[in-house]
Amino acid sequence: MKVLQKADPEIAEIILAEQQRQADTLELIASENHVSGPVLVALGSILTDKYAEGYPGKRYYCGNTNIDSVETICIERAKKLFGAEHANVQPHCGTSANLAVYMACLKPGDKIMGMELAHGGHLSHGMRLNVSGLFYNTSTYGVDPKTERLDMGQVRKLVLEQRPALLIAGASAYPRIIDFEAFGQIAREAGCLLMADIAHIAGLVAAGVHPSPLPHATFVTTTNHKTLRGPRGGVILCTSEWAKRIDAAVFPGLQGGPLEHVIAAKAVAFCEAMKPEFKQYAAAIIANAKALADELLARQWRLVSGGTDNHMLMIDLRTRRPDLTGHQAAGWLAAAGIITNKNSIPFDQRKPMHTSGIRMGTPAVTTRGMGPAEMKAVADWIDKVLSSDGDQAVIDEVSKQVLEMCRQFPIPNNPTCADIE
Ligand SMILES: Cc1ncc(COP(=O)(O)O)c(C=O)c1O
Repeated sequence: MKVLQKADPEIAEIILAEQQRQADTLELIASENHVSGPVLVALGSILTDKYAEGYPGKRYYCGNTNIDSVETICIERAKKLFGAEHANVQPHCGTSANLAVYMACLKPGDKIMGMELAHGGHLSHGMRLNVSGLFYNTSTYGVDPKTERLDMGQVRKLVLEQRPALLIAGASAYPRIIDFEAFGQIAREAGCLLMADIAHIAGLVAAGVHPSPLPHATFVTTTNHKTLRGPRGGVILCTSEWAKRIDAAVFPGLQGGPLEHVIAAKAVAFCEAMKPEFKQYAAAIIANAKALADELLARQWRLVSGGTDNHMLMIDLRTRRPDLTGHQAAGWLAAAGIITNKNSIPFDQRKPMHTSGIRMGTPAVTTRGMGPAEMKAVADWIDKVLSSDGDQAVIDEVSKQVLEMCRQFPIPNNPTCADIE
């Protein structure tokens, strides 16, 4: 860090300020985590210098011997971790991974079907302003209005009516187990391909604490940076028969040179995810989410679908505070050092910039070593802040306690870029 401080104090100062912010707040955003020191070191390595258009053994530039080794190890680890026949580790993000699948198996104008965005789906599953919605013809399925869970009978009915070329299973804001086996049966019956997007739950799937979409889906896409606790980026897993078309869709179809420093960091994260400790970590994420959910329910906060099976939960603010928007609520919590995000809830009457819900998840606080006892305290603080109407004295009091807890549970293995000096 000293090198950077000397060369560019402006940026160095911001990085240090961000590190302090992360250290002093509780990260409850369900899609975020704190990577390990080894992942950060690989990410900050000189592998960023190399152009490596192509794939191991088939590059356009010379000098890629070491890069080939890194990417091959990363591919083999991804295959082993998830039990896949083929892996492409080059997608720069989860959205690129999804787009590459569409490019590999669809023509513009073909039908895709994913989960309704307002019910927890993702932009890249066919939202009208996203390239997936512009290039492909989208229809959606949603959750049952009573249970707020996917009703697989209803999904089947809609798929058989709509006959999409590609069915997408996966979500950004769904706190329940996704029945990939049922999705596989429906896709087979409808004669369509199935893509499972496990961006959120990849770490849970890798650890065996959420059912795997393999072998039910032809394509599985993921990000690395959520429950999987790797660097920002994406991966595509597929059956051997699609390997060539997927690779061609990523490069030269969609991307140029791969980010080999990120690929090295992905490899490090996959190695970490194969360790027995990671299984314990993933189980602890779910135990913490359930503990947080139970404590909030005990304080009369309504949760979408009544609770959680995975790493996230969604508070429906309307029952306790019909006047309060997710935007306001998340702002008050952030002022108290509890970082969440506003989120639409199923059948939300409010617009996405306001919302009636907040989404929270436990991957990052679990990385810090917190457990159910800490989740009880967190639920208490959330309850206090949200019940206080944003009262500054309450926010100040809670933020003091949050800071104390943060000091007790420092972010582990964070080298502050010191190793890179
Ligand atoms: C289900 C799902 N798919 C894809 C993505 C996209 O990932 P990225 O932001 O890396 O493009 C996300 C991100 O939140 C997601 O939740």
